[in-house]
Amino acid sequence: MIALRPRRLRRSEVVRQLVREHRVHVEQLVSPLFVAERASDAGPIDAMPGVARFDLDGAVAQARELFALGVKSVLLFGIPADKDPVASSAYDPDGIVQRALRAIKTALPEMLVMADLCCCEYTSHGHCGLIGERGEVDNDATVELLCRIATTYADAGADVVAPSDMMDGRVAAIRAALDRAKAQDVAIMAYSAKYASAFYGPFREAAGSSPQFGDRRGYQMDPSNAREALREIALDVAQGADIVMVKPGLPYLDVLRAARERFDVPLAVYNVSGEYAMLQAAIANGWLDGERAVDEVLTSFVRAGADIVITYFAQEYARRHGRDA
Ligand code: PBG
Repeated sequence: MIALRPRRLRRSEVVRQLVREHRVHVEQLVSPLFVAERASDAGPIDAMPGVARFDLDGAVAQARELFALGVKSVLLFGIPADKDPVASSAYDPDGIVQRALRAIKTALPEMLVMADLCCCEYTSHGHCGLIGERGEVDNDATVELLCRIATTYADAGADVVAPSDMMDGRVAAIRAALDRAKAQDVAIMAYSAKYASAFYGPFREAAGSSPQFGDRRGYQMDPSNAREALREIALDVAQGADIVMVKPGLPYLDVLRAARERFDVPLAVYNVSGEYAMLQAAIANGWLDGERAVDEVLTSFVRAGADIVITYFAQEYARRHGRDA
């Protein structure tokens, strides 16, 4: 005779719901939002079906749509008209992200608007910072530049700035710069454990931010390292990060789990462009049941310990699972 029968609690949807350990709430999702300065740069992204680059008005409309669906946080990425070696268009008070921040916060004051903070979309060489004399990305000069960009984002109304550059010491410097600018209420979501990943490919097409020489392995993390991720997160927490992040998501669920066990700050995961593309390609071919696959993937992040999930599936998930769905 079998005494223990776990199947008893799987017999109906009602009992399965009753014992369900994890749920993905629409409120936990953050939708990335690409805003192009030139209207001619707006439009679909080949490798990311269902995701688009918007012009300013389109971005506000998209934010409205997301908010109405219950996705009340967006993460802005700018596609500027001009790039140069020193990312001037990134700290222009009238730059595309600054304008988008003002427009969205005016239209939707309650929306939580986050701004990705990096130079790679704004530099002609496509690296995440300033190039030093030896051709490497100059850490400390880049940190100063990030501080300058961050204060213009705060001035424009950002609720959260999200440094994704992986320079050392940037969180403390950005915190100090924001505080000096009386932006003490602007939070920092640090891309703390950001790996040098092949899964950013479609994003770089979307944002036009591929490095023109070399790669990002001199600043982003080696995919082989997990303990180092915890050291990076500890550094960012010590420097005042309000939220820390692991990125990408699916190939790094072990890191996410370890971070959850070690740290008590809110933990975000970025389900990146390549993870989205991979799933969409299989779904388009009829090889996967899209809705179930997406739900399973998003659940894996919450189960592993994420509080916040940044995902290109946010809108679609909210359509199916939101308040009015
Ligand atoms: C900017 C940045 C990148 C992503 C987020 N911020 C690209 C990169 O580091 O090359 C990737 C997001 C995605 O792939 O969805 N540094």
